[in-house]
Amino acid sequence: MIGVKVVTRMTVIIKVNPINPEREKIKIAAEAILKGGIVVFPTETVYGLGADALNPEAVRKVFIAKNRPMDNPIIVHIAKKSQLFELAKKVPKWVERAIDILWPGPVTFVLEKKKIVPDEVTAGLPTVAIRMPAHPVALALIEESKPIAAPSANLSGKPSPTTAKHVIEDMYGRVDVIIDAGDTFFGVESTVIDATEDPPVILRPGPMTVEELQKITGKEFKIHPAALAKGSVKVAKSPGMKYRHYAPNAKLILIEGAYEEMLRKIKEVFLRLKREGKKVALLLTEESKEFLGVREDVINLGTRKNLYSVAKNLFKSLRLLDKLGYEAGIVESFELKGIGLAIMNRLRKAASEIIYA
Ligand code: TXA
Ligand code: MG
Repeated sequence: MIGVKVVTRMTVIIKVNPINPEREKIKIAAEAILKGGIVVFPTETVYGLGADALNPEAVRKVFIAKNRPMDNPIIVHIAKKSQLFELAKKVPKWVERAIDILWPGPVTFVLEKKKIVPDEVTAGLPTVAIRMPAHPVALALIEESKPIAAPSANLSGKPSPTTAKHVIEDMYGRVDVIIDAGDTFFGVESTVIDATEDPPVILRPGPMTVEELQKITGKEFKIHPAALAKGSVKVAKSPGMKYRHYAPNAKLILIEGAYEEMLRKIKEVFLRLKREGKKVALLLTEESKEFLGVREDVINLGTRKNLYSVAKNLFKSLRLLDKLGYEAGIVESFELKGIGLAIMNRLRKAASEIIYA
C-alpha cells in the first residue's frame, strides 16, 4: 500500500514442538493476539500471519505488515465447529456434512457472513472464507485466543512461506511474534470453495483435490476459470485472483506441453539463455532431470511418482532461485488433475512467461 508506513516491531521468535506444542509457549502468542497484536503461526499448508478476526484494528495491521492490498479478503481460522456458526449464516447442509469429514484440513469454505465479521476481514464482501487448519500449533493458538484472520505470512506477491526461515526473511521486525514449528506439511495453500453457489465453485485449487471433493460430497464442482490461472482475469470472484503472486525476483519461465516435447523445449530455452550469458537454473523433477541428463544448475522439485512432493517443494524452490542468485529459472509443467491443478495454478501465476512446446 503506497503511503502506509510499516511500523517496526520487536519480533519475538518462539520455537515450539509441532506435534505437541508447549501450552505455556502458545499462551504467549495467544496473549499477543488477544491484545490486538499480529502473530505468525504454522498451518498444515503454509505459515499464516494472524490477528484476532473480530478486531478490525488488529486485522488492519496484518494488511500493512504484508503490504497487502486492502481489497483482498482473508481467511478466518477456527478451532471448533461452533465457531463456524458464529461467523457464517446459511451454512448449506452439504457443507455441514462435508466439514465433518474434511476438517480440520486444507479446505476453505466461502459462506455468507454474519454482521460480527468486520469488513476489514472480508474486504467489504458479504461473504467470509473459513477453515479449520489441521496443525496442532494452529489449533492450540486459536483455542487459547480467538478465531484468527490470517493470510499467508509472506510479503504480498512473494512465494508463500513453508518454513520459519522464509517467514523470518519476510516478516522479522514487522510482526509481534513468530512461532517456529519447522516445515509445513503440504506446501501449497488450502483449496478455496465458494459455497454460496450451487453447484459450488473452486476458486483456488489446493491440497484437497477436486476429484476427492466430488467423491466426498457427491457434488459436481465447477472450477472458476481464474483457478486455472490462464491468461488475465477480468472478473475476479475471489479478489486475490487478479494479483500477481508467488513471484521470485528471477524471471520464471514455465514450459507447457506434452511431456517429451516440453522437456525438449526446456533444453532449447536453457541453452539459448546460457548462450546469451544468463545465469539460469532448471526447476525439475528427478525424472525430468534424468531424462535431460543435466547435472548443474538444477533445483530439485521432487518426484513425478508423488506430485505432493512437488507441491511441498514448490515455494521453497522459487525462493531458492533468488537465494542462489539466478537471473532466470525454467520450470516444467504438470497435468491439470489431482494436486497437479494446484501446482499449475501457482506456477502460472508465478511465471513471467509461459512457452507452449
Ligand atoms: O492454506 C491457506 O489457505 C493459508 C493458510 C495460512 O491458512 N492462507 C492463505 O491465505 O492462503 P491467503 O490470504 O494468502 O489466500 C486467501 C485466498 C485469497 O485468494 C482470497 O482472495 C480468498 O482466499 N478469499 C478470502 N476471502 C474470500 C471471500 N470472502 N470470497 C472469495 N474469496 C476469498
Ligand atoms: Mg497468499
